[in-house]
Amino acid sequence: MRRPILAANWKMYKTQAEASAFAKEFLPLVAAATDVDVVIAPPFTALPALAAALAGSRVLLAAQNVHPEEQGAFTGEIAPGMLRELGCRYAIVGHSERRTLFGESSELVARKAEALLRHEIRPIVCVGESLEERESGRTAAVIETQLRESLARVPGERAAELVVAYEPIWAIGTGRTATPALAQDVHAQVRGVLRERFGAAGDAIRIQYGGSVKPDNVRELMAQPDIDGALVGGASLEPESFARIVRFEAR
Ligand code: PGA
Repeated sequence: MRRPILAANWKMYKTQAEASAFAKEFLPLVAAATDVDVVIAPPFTALPALAAALAGSRVLLAAQNVHPEEQGAFTGEIAPGMLRELGCRYAIVGHSERRTLFGESSELVARKAEALLRHEIRPIVCVGESLEERESGRTAAVIETQLRESLARVPGERAAELVVAYEPIWAIGTGRTATPALAQDVHAQVRGVLRERFGAAGDAIRIQYGGSVKPDNVRELMAQPDIDGALVGGASLEPESFARIVRFEAR
């Protein structure tokens, strides 16, 4: 009942020219994948070029971040209306790199998610525990707190538009994927928190797994009952590799 959503997070990779070249090669490879949502989040600077290159396709555009205010004296920031104007349908908020390298709190993430919904952009809200938190048995508590705080401003009637990405920090960019069973375990906990927070609407929210997702492990991950998609960094940078992920195809 939940439509799978496969999202590329390009982080600080690809110029406009590189983004356009990617789209040209990628689109024919996923033309037949009509039963999943496919999303690409390039750097801000590549959004216009990628929007043009994706025009007429089913692949949707996303941003990697946003500022919660409509406009103002916020040097270096980008407002949600600006993203909507460029055609963004999704935006990642609260990625662990934003939380750890740029000091973003869940309270700020909550304001970003609220601002995005106001502009009809669907937030992809990321949560995840560090290695130290996992090893000291605090995963469930950390995830629950991050979720409750980050989703605090989402109105109940908009819940179904949310995407939550569970990304264990120790699995991001390390090649060390969570096993499907371990990921499912946390996804089930996330589902429980979403049901408590939003009632039955919690069942409609898609939960992505992220952290070293590759063509080789995507099928097994997607077979888990509460894994509804993937947020993919490194393996989304090559058209062939991301296309295989979209098709749940190892080879
Ligand atoms: P990775 O990154 O696929 O390179 O581990 C995932 C992410 O940070 O979203």
